[in-house]
Amino acid sequence: MIAPIVGFSKLSKNKKIEWLVNTYFHSDEAVINTLKKYWNSDEKLQKLHDEFIENTISNFYLPLGIAPNFLINDQLYVIPMAIEESSVVAAASKAAKFWLDRGGFKATVLSTEKVGQVHFMYFGSTEKLHNYFNSIKSALFASTKHITQNMDKRGGGITDIILRDKTQELDGYFQLHCTFETVDSMGANFINSCLEQFAKTFEDGAKSFEAFSEKEKNIQIVMSILSNYVPNCLVKAEVSCPVNSLVKSDSIDAEEFANKFVRAIQIAKIEPYRAVTHNKGIMNGIDAVVLATGNDFRAVEAGIHAYAAKDGRYSSLTHAEVKDGIFKFWIEIPLSLGTVGGLTSLHPLVKLALEMLGKPNAKELMQVVAVAGLAQNFAAIRSLVTTGIQKGHMKMHLVNILNQLEATEVEKKHFINFFKDKTVTHSAVVNAFNAHKTAQA
Ligand code: MEV
Repeated sequence: MIAPIVGFSKLSKNKKIEWLVNTYFHSDEAVINTLKKYWNSDEKLQKLHDEFIENTISNFYLPLGIAPNFLINDQLYVIPMAIEESSVVAAASKAAKFWLDRGGFKATVLSTEKVGQVHFMYFGSTEKLHNYFNSIKSALFASTKHITQNMDKRGGGITDIILRDKTQELDGYFQLHCTFETVDSMGANFINSCLEQFAKTFEDGAKSFEAFSEKEKNIQIVMSILSNYVPNCLVKAEVSCPVNSLVKSDSIDAEEFANKFVRAIQIAKIEPYRAVTHNKGIMNGIDAVVLATGNDFRAVEAGIHAYAAKDGRYSSLTHAEVKDGIFKFWIEIPLSLGTVGGLTSLHPLVKLALEMLGKPNAKELMQVVAVAGLAQNFAAIRSLVTTGIQKGHMKMHLVNILNQLEATEVEKKHFINFFKDKTVTHSAVVNAFNAHKTAQA
């Protein structure tokens, strides 16, 4: 049985690796080599990455791809995407090119409100609590002046604090529901610092609020934390064109394509099994840009999926219609992003990603990310209702299968050519590869 280790975090990086390899890999030197192969030879750069998190033993690579030709609000963008899944970047690029010829994408930020809450328990008169809240509200703002100074200067700050009675759902449970404007930063640290100060001021102030009984003075703070649900931090992106310009070739009728496309969206609206996969495809685009630009993709994921269920049933994040001969396709999503703070100026590739986007502010980045999601969904639905998804996807995945088979560069070239007019499946590639090897032997 493996014994727990004490003081692991204090060990040097090499000692941590030594412990890992001795304990879980039978002291296999090859494991050490693999881990070290991914260390950067630039020691300063490696140290920077080591210190992003704790107990770092190596770097975990993801490819950084770019999707050019994105026309967004009449400006041409190249979009950076960090993702491991083949065919996502190709699909984005294809959708970008498609809409480039049809007027491009239009994107608008609808709102930018961030949220944080102080959750507390109070057992007493609700009226007295409301009176207390009204009496202390300005002190709550004042007590955070030292935290909000810089944000105020940048045009942000605390926009409101309201008292919410949640006792219908949980006995004694109330909240200070606080809203913020954090301008170009995602604002997590700012919001959490403000909330913790509110909690302290609110808890302390109750002790000297005369109308409270001794029991009522004892407000119990449970926790203070931002919310990743930001339904009032919304961005919309859309594309539209005449139905008859939707397809180029005669192989498919434009009207039939448009109707099938709209039908696919309707299905994702009413069928959660489909909606989850539909939205997963959207997140292929969104997460890749969020990650490349150093933002928190877990926060974005959680907030967007909650938004997809806001009407009581998990549903599609995109919408489509055909009206008066015009096809329109759009997305509306909550996005809390930053272009300053966090990793944005720390991670060299994040910095580069933001630079290739023209150093956007947070609102511009929201627009780019929403467009990436919409483009990804367009590409997926287009394939799904016409050729099927596997044709394009497996063509892109072919290289991964060949790499698994340890094909040489010459063999890869040969098989990419060989499968040009054939259906790619895992077994078809393995069989063809093995036959080729046997013939060579
Ligand atoms: C695969 O990563 C994403 C898709 O399944 C999305 C969809 O079905 O819409 C192709």
